[in-house]
Amino acid sequence: MHIYLDNAATTPLDPEVIEVMVETMKNEYGNPSSIHAHGRQAKTIVEKARKTIANLLHASPAEIFFTSGGTEADNMAIVRSIEAYGITHAITTPIEHHAVLHTLEELAKNDKIQLDLLRLDEQGNIDLNQLEELLAKNPRSLVSIMHANNELGNLTDIKRVSEICQQYNAIFHSDTVQTMGHYKHDLSELKIDFITGAGHKFHGPKGVGFLYINGNNKIRPLIFGGAQERNMRGGTENVYGIVGLAKALEIAYREMDEHHAYIQGLKSYMIDALKTAIPTIEFNGNLDPANSLYTVLNVSLPCTDMSDMLLFNLDISGISASGGSACSSGSDIGSHVLRGINANPDRPSVRFSFSKNNTKEEIDTVVAKLKEICEHN
Ligand SMILES: Cc1ncc(COP(=O)(O)O)c(C=O)c1O
Repeated sequence: MHIYLDNAATTPLDPEVIEVMVETMKNEYGNPSSIHAHGRQAKTIVEKARKTIANLLHASPAEIFFTSGGTEADNMAIVRSIEAYGITHAITTPIEHHAVLHTLEELAKNDKIQLDLLRLDEQGNIDLNQLEELLAKNPRSLVSIMHANNELGNLTDIKRVSEICQQYNAIFHSDTVQTMGHYKHDLSELKIDFITGAGHKFHGPKGVGFLYINGNNKIRPLIFGGAQERNMRGGTENVYGIVGLAKALEIAYREMDEHHAYIQGLKSYMIDALKTAIPTIEFNGNLDPANSLYTVLNVSLPCTDMSDMLLFNLDISGISASGGSACSSGSDIGSHVLRGINANPDRPSVRFSFSKNNTKEEIDTVVAKLKEICEHN
């Protein structure tokens, strides 16, 4: 039996999503830019998907732009807002996804911006007082802070960040890739400039995502070409990907409360089982359910001799999970997130990430395997 506990990396497609994508592949092969009936039909489908997403997020369809995924959406928001608003200072955290961190570091390297990284406590919580202090000195900055961290699961209070940003007239971008489809985003309430989504994190297809651009913002495209996406993103639309993305988000919203409770139950169950099986286990990140993504659990294990072999060992036992260490030696550059919270480099860490498809029986198997591994090391 194979156990998949790497749902923060990607999720399996929902059968309903496969169904609508296959239908679209079979029947809707027109190019949305063509003016004949086939093209018009494809265009209608893309616009319907945009409207579905906009309605779920309480945004306007004109604020949703389809992209190739989360990485492109993050790049577009950061690069083009800095350019559009003549921004010279940006604030982020050391534990952002590389789609954000590397983009900002590149701009800083080329002297386009000065970049400040916020302090974190040992659980990876962000110091919002420092954000205020930095904004008081540099009011019109770009603030890019993720909603949930993909390795630790830590949630940021983006409502509070948005209030601080408004106070200092800062531009606020949040990488919401890990919370899209898992938490309800209400953009009629939340004052934010840019958020991002990627279909494959909520049982939709890979290679398709979107950028929400608040209607007050005017930025330039990142990818030039045809007039697609109202001149904001050249390239023939990924029609069946877009259809699958919208369907996946629709299902996610429909089933969110039920899945939230179920998956949080699995996570709590695993925490308790691990504490009993391996008393010296530790957890990376914030475990408080109010401040932690219910789909992610990052554990730090006492089997210090196993570092590199742990994931391999789990893999050959049929368990797929993700890892990272705080170490940065040799070819393994380790995890910048674990280094960011000063995790003990001698203890191997594993990120388990859950979905609606997982069961308690699977958790039991994984916990027993981890106990066995730790007892032999
Ligand atoms: C927090 C976060 N941001 C951005 C991305 C990148 O998304 P994509 O793989 O769709 O480019 C990911 C996915 O790994 C992620 O977890």
